[in-house]
Amino acid sequence: MRNKVEKIAVLTSGGDSPGMNAAIRAVVRTAIGRGVKIFGIRKGYTGIYEENMIEMTAESVSGIIMRGGTILYTARNKEMLTEEGQKRAAGILKDHGFDGLVVIGGDGSYRGAQALSKNGINVICIPGTIDLDVASTRYTIGFDTAVNTAVEAIDKIKDSSASHERVSIIEVMGRSAGYIALESGIATGAEEILIPEDYNYDENKIIEAVIDNRKRGHRHNIIINAEGIGDSMDMAKRIEAATGIETRATVLGYLQRGGNPTCRDRVMASVMGEMAVRLLCEGKRNRVIAFQASEYTDFDIDEALAMKKTIPKYMVNVAEMLTYHYTKLNAI
Ligand code: F6P
Repeated sequence: MRNKVEKIAVLTSGGDSPGMNAAIRAVVRTAIGRGVKIFGIRKGYTGIYEENMIEMTAESVSGIIMRGGTILYTARNKEMLTEEGQKRAAGILKDHGFDGLVVIGGDGSYRGAQALSKNGINVICIPGTIDLDVASTRYTIGFDTAVNTAVEAIDKIKDSSASHERVSIIEVMGRSAGYIALESGIATGAEEILIPEDYNYDENKIIEAVIDNRKRGHRHNIIINAEGIGDSMDMAKRIEAATGIETRATVLGYLQRGGNPTCRDRVMASVMGEMAVRLLCEGKRNRVIAFQASEYTDFDIDEALAMKKTIPKYMVNVAEMLTYHYTKLNAI
C-alpha cells in the first residue's frame, strides 16, 4: 500500500441510523477537498464481495444531509464472520487499490473492520447506531433522532392511554442496551423504565405499583420496555390478568430507525466524517472515532473493542427516583 493516501472507500454497515447520510457526505466532501479519490461500497461488507463500488463525487452527496437511511444501503454480512471471508474481503479491497476504508456502523461493523485491519487494510470507524451501545464513545450517530422519535410516539400513546385509563407498555429498540428506554422514559415521565443492564425488576412489584397507583387516583400507567427485557405483548396480558386493568403493548420497532436526522446527528456525523478522512490522510491507521467528555477523539481499534460499555449509574438512579415504582417501593 502507498504511503500517500490517494484512493479510499466508505461503507455503512449493520442497522441503518439517521445521520449516516450526513456522515457519508462529510467523508466524500472531505476526501474530494483533499484530492483523494473516494468510492462508496454499497450494502456494507456484502458490497466488497460483490464489488459493488461506485466513485463518489461532491454532487453525488448533495441533498442528503437531511435524509434518513443510507444512500449506500446497508447489510449484516455473515461471510465477514469467518477468517476465510475476512481474508477474501481484504484481498478484494487490495486488488482495488484502496489506501483506506471508512466504516460507519456499530460494534458488529467495528469487528469486521478490526478483522480487515489484521489483514492489512487501513480502517477508520465512525460510530453509527441508534442503540448508543458502542463502548468507546459517549455518542453514536442516530441516537438523538431515534430517542426523539420514541419520545414523540410515547407522548401520543400517553394521550390515548390517559383517555382510556389504561396501562400502556411501550417497547423501544436498543438490542441489549437500555439507552433509548432510559432517556425516552425519563423524558416522558414514565411510571416504569425497564432496561436490561441494571434494572432489577420484579413483575409482581410492577403489578402492585399499577394497583396502588389506581388507588391513589392516578388514571394510567406508562411502562417503557427496552427490547432486551422480553416479550411486551405477553407482559401486557399478564399485567391485565393480574390487575383487571386494560393493558396494551406497542412495539415502536423500525420507525425509530428512520426519519430526518436531528441537528445533533447531522453535526456529529459531519465532524466525525471529516475527522475520519483527516486521520487517514495524516497516516493514522485502524482507529475508531469517539466522542468523550464533550470532545471528539480517537482510539486504537483493538483498545476500543476491548472496552466495556456500562450505562451511567447516575442516569439509572434518576430514572428510578422519578418513576412511580421507586416512590412506591420507598414509601412502604
Ligand atoms: O442496532 C440497531 C437495531 O435497530 C437494534 O435496536 C435492533 O435490536 C436491531 O437493530 C434490529 O435488527 P434488524 O434490522 O436486523 O432487524
